[in-house]
Amino acid sequence: MAKSRGRLYLWMCLAAALASFLVGFMVGWFIKPLKETATSVRYHQSIRWKLVSEMKAENIKSFLRSFTKLPHLAGTEQNLLLAKKIQTQWKKFGLDSAKLVHYDVLLSYPNETNANYISIVDEHGIEIFNTSYLEPLPHGYENVTNIVPPYNAFSAQGIPEGDLVYVNYARTEDFFKLEREMNINCTGKIVIARYGKIFRGNKVKNAMLAGAIGIILYSDPADYFAPEVQPYPKGWNLPGTAAQRGNVLNLNGAGDPLTPGYPAKEYTFRLNIEEGVGIPKIPVHPIGYNDAEILLRKVRMHVYNTNKITRIYNVIGTIRGSVEPDRYVILGGHRDSWVFGAIDPTSGTSVLQEIAQSFGKLMSRGWRPRRTIIFASWDAEEFGLLGSTEWAEENAKILQERSIAYINSDSSIEGNYTLRVDCTPLLYQLVYKLTKEISSPDDGFDGKSLYESWLEKDPSPENKNFPRINKLGSGSDFEAYFQRLGIASGRARYTKNKKTEKYSSYPVYHTIYETFEVVENFYDPTFKKQLSVAQLRGALVYELADSKIIPFNIKDYAKALQNYATSIYNLSKKHDQQLREHGVSFDSLFSAVKNFSEAASDFHRRLTQVDLNNPIAVRIMNDQLMLLERAFIDPLGLPGRQFYRHIIFAPSSHNKYAGESFPGIYDSMFDIENKADPHWAWTEVKKHISIAAFTIQAAAGTLKEVLE
Ligand SMILES: *[C@@H]1O[C@H](CO)[C@@H](O)[C@H](O)[C@H]1NC(C)=O
Ligand SMILES: *[C@@H]1O[C@H](CO)[C@@H](O)[C@H](O)[C@H]1NC(C)=O
Ligand SMILES: *[C@@H]1O[C@H](CO)[C@@H](O)[C@H](O)[C@H]1NC(C)=O
Ligand SMILES: *[C@@H]1O[C@H](CO)[C@@H](O)[C@H](O)[C@H]1NC(C)=O
Ligand SMILES: *[C@@H]1O[C@H](CO)[C@@H](O)[C@H](O)[C@H]1NC(C)=O
Ligand SMILES: *[C@@H]1O[C@H](CO)[C@@H](O)[C@H](O)[C@H]1NC(C)=O
Ligand SMILES: *[C@@H]1O[C@H](CO)[C@@H](O)[C@H](O)[C@H]1NC(C)=O
Ligand SMILES: [Zn+2]
Repeated sequence: MAKSRGRLYLWMCLAAALASFLVGFMVGWFIKPLKETATSVRYHQSIRWKLVSEMKAENIKSFLRSFTKLPHLAGTEQNLLLAKKIQTQWKKFGLDSAKLVHYDVLLSYPNETNANYISIVDEHGIEIFNTSYLEPLPHGYENVTNIVPPYNAFSAQGIPEGDLVYVNYARTEDFFKLEREMNINCTGKIVIARYGKIFRGNKVKNAMLAGAIGIILYSDPADYFAPEVQPYPKGWNLPGTAAQRGNVLNLNGAGDPLTPGYPAKEYTFRLNIEEGVGIPKIPVHPIGYNDAEILLRKVRMHVYNTNKITRIYNVIGTIRGSVEPDRYVILGGHRDSWVFGAIDPTSGTSVLQEIAQSFGKLMSRGWRPRRTIIFASWDAEEFGLLGSTEWAEENAKILQERSIAYINSDSSIEGNYTLRVDCTPLLYQLVYKLTKEISSPDDGFDGKSLYESWLEKDPSPENKNFPRINKLGSGSDFEAYFQRLGIASGRARYTKNKKTEKYSSYPVYHTIYETFEVVENFYDPTFKKQLSVAQLRGALVYELADSKIIPFNIKDYAKALQNYATSIYNLSKKHDQQLREHGVSFDSLFSAVKNFSEAASDFHRRLTQVDLNNPIAVRIMNDQLMLLERAFIDPLGLPGRQFYRHIIFAPSSHNKYAGESFPGIYDSMFDIENKADPHWAWTEVKKHISIAAFTIQAAAGTLKEVLE
């Protein structure tokens, strides 16, 4: 296996060398219309190899170095300058267009003259201890100004004072435990929660629901300090003086809090800030573990953040498709960062840049993709996925009619162990195929493929013969494209070993210590892992944009649906008696899944027979492929979450980062044993089973050749 793989790479290298030697000849060859023959398949593969071998670790490193010298907080001059720099580079790379697109969205900043802090107050109300305002500057960055201190964007202002209650991770289950087992009432209390496990906005929402008057978020060493690793700068662990920034909104996909559903343009009607979507009503503030250790009993929070409508800028670049210019493949990632953002997002921004550059090099030799490729550098992701969502809102009509897929390019590395992929089931086969043709960057896997190291290190729990692929949740810019518009989406990055590394995200996440040095010294000194991620993201975009038939596999969707249906049915079985009492049946769901599976098989059978030289026949099949994901969208959305409209997947209601399958059914069954009105609750379950069954049946209908 290893040997033949080795030969394949050698062959690839030779092919690439030959290709560049024969550039003049290739130009003629590139622009010649081709019949779909064995030659054109090889030709197609050779372009992908060319694209992938254009990408250089060294280039990603120099983009990262250049983009992380200064902070790039959304809404600041520095981030606009970076937008212009990226725009200039895209033009230089040879993209057909690169423009800035702005929106005026609600952002939140600390008050520069009135710092946030938390104090311990004595019985006379004297503040006898105050937490620190700032993180000590990392070496080499002493002269940098405009560094935003640790804060939680969109926190309410206020000076609440009260007894402190420790609420663990502030998850739903943590509050259940406090209220139901420990009899602790958080009403009127300030709660302190450790970061980790779930999205911080969910913690704040839970605290509000529990009646807390303020919430302090801290990074516990158990979650942000790996054993036997030094704190930054000697290692990649979190120093005790550092604190995690981050927004605490519960937007549920709304984008700008003041213009839900619509782009935040000059003329757009805006809600008052008090009515803004998902803005917490209580003060929230983050601290490091040095300060957390000292806080106890009675505390006072000082939070003076202010919300401000601020202009943000996306950079949008395009390569016009030669055959189907009205079909789009989008590669987007955010540019804004809390401070230097070397991991989040700039390890992804640099990868995006190298992919754009490599496509540009192919273009300079006369190549052009079949479909249009859209490159996007989003702004204000850190403030609630704002730039990407506003652009999706502004272009919703055209995007839902014309988009093939969205590939995300946020952080390309969050650990150095193995690949991590989250995507629609439509992309599983393409991801397997492409990772088999990219070399592994891992030590001890010389001559082996990325697929081989990934499979060995992280096999799927359901089927050990395949590497793990996760469901899409949220927490990055694919959200509006997948969860709202139903555009097939995927993301890929390098990650840690989840079996042995128990800390949350990565220790220096959203602190001042996310520097170039942390990436270069500890995560990816050779930049080879980021290169592999660039090759995978770039190859995905290439295949989606240039394959005559869109490389989606619908049979995998059918298998996934079968699996999700079984799993929600299994979950329901613990209420066996109630199911019978209330006449709850999953039969319609299983029937729809079966019908979908048959339609998927028929569709793929039809696909093998399609005349590839008949452009209308090809377009018919491609339209059905493109629109399948869209068929899972319910225009009414999920209960209380109108912008999460995908019936098969949604961000978990308890943790925005995680994906939940059949979210409507799942949420209606959640904690059902404690519902005041079981009859009503089980009626809701029945309703959501029927919505899921209908949606899957309707999606199956879109795969048929004619209306039945
Ligand atoms: C910042 O705080 C100062 C002092 O309390 C106050 O005068 C000023 O209005 C605040 N700035 C903003 C933008 O709220
Ligand atoms: C905490 O800050 C307040 C306001 O600046 C100040 O009055 C108080 O003396 C400080 N307490 C300590 C222990 O530094
Ligand atoms: C910071 O500025 C001082 C004074 O201009 C200069 O001597 C020093 O080298 C600078 N430090 C860095 C890291 O650039
Ligand atoms: C918690 O305390 C508040 C106010 O003291 C009270 O209104 C509420 O009923 C209490 N909650 C529980 C579950 O006891
Ligand atoms: C990178 O990999 C090495 C070897 O497995 C490990 O010791 C180190 O902690 C990893 N670095 C990071 C940042 O995870
Ligand atoms: C559902 O339960 C059955 C029987 O307990 C088990 O064999 C199966 O693996 C479960 N499937 C899923 C997807 O949870
Ligand atoms: C599945 O297809 C069968 C046969 O056409 C049909 O009777 C059944 O109603 C379908 N299931 C659903 C949920 O529509
Ligand atoms: Zn990010």
